[in-house]
Amino acid sequence: MRLEMRGLWKTFDLSGRAGRAGRSGHSGADPDYDYSRGHDQKTYVLRDINFDDDIKTLALIGRSGCGKSTLLRILGGLIPASGGTAVVDGHRAVDHENYRKKIGFVFQQGGLFSHLSAWENITLPLIKVHGFAGERARARAHELLERFGLIQEADKKPSQLSGGQKQRIAIARAVAPKPGMLLLDEPTSALDPEYTTEVLNMIRELKKENLSFIIATHEMGFALHACEKVAFLCEGRIMEYGASKEVFAKPATAALAEFLSKLLEWKV
Ligand SMILES: Nc1ncnc2c1ncn2[C@@H]1O[C@H](COP(=O)(O)OP(=O)(O)OP(=O)(O)O)[C@@H](O)[C@H]1O
Ligand SMILES: [Mg+2]
Repeated sequence: MRLEMRGLWKTFDLSGRAGRAGRSGHSGADPDYDYSRGHDQKTYVLRDINFDDDIKTLALIGRSGCGKSTLLRILGGLIPASGGTAVVDGHRAVDHENYRKKIGFVFQQGGLFSHLSAWENITLPLIKVHGFAGERARARAHELLERFGLIQEADKKPSQLSGGQKQRIAIARAVAPKPGMLLLDEPTSALDPEYTTEVLNMIRELKKENLSFIIATHEMGFALHACEKVAFLCEGRIMEYGASKEVFAKPATAALAEFLSKLLEWKV
């Protein structure tokens, strides 16, 4: 899956609204412009992101607040960029339903519909959003629930599922329409270690389906062993990018070396 980003940037103004393009309305980053002046006070969350590569499995790592979720949300068509472009597999990322349908998205905490069973959480979006006939939707849901050992949970509502089961249902729902790309925003951060392993195993298993994914994660073991590439974000920029094994073995910047050493501090 080809991912191209050119001069991508994002600001939020202090009221939390998405920033608009710079003073001239151009689409590239404008690092010389002082967005913090006057009432139009803004902060850069992403700055001049440029990227062009074929990716299968990419981990986004970096300290809290560096812009991982914001970047995933732009790629998923959930929020607009303030400038620049992002193109996923030939489709320009825009916050529009037709684009969003091509991308699967899994949030930190599943986002399942609480009044629907696990089964309905998978089948209804297939029918209502993706235009599947009922029988085809049910067959696809059955296939996924069985494959991922969730068939026993099919009739349960989210409140009756464990955290790990909820996330696995959310992932099954996201991959059910066979999206071109799956985006996962810290899918395990709310889980204890055992459930984390369950969910990460499931994501690793998805690689066999030739599904490309980008995952924002603080699980460095997963980024290293299950993702071919890793991008280290720092203050809204991609500071390092490359094959996971190389980037982890030889951080090129002091920022990444420091980030990794802090994570190791409390490891047993
Ligand atoms: N809607 C918003 N309005 C204003 N600022 C925002 C908004 N969303 C995010 N931000 C800011 O943008 C920056 C990047 O946030 P983001 O959620 O992308 O970080 P992150 O790398 O995903 O962090 P974490 O690892 O904690 O999830 C943060 O400083 C955050 O406060
Ligand atoms: Mg985040």
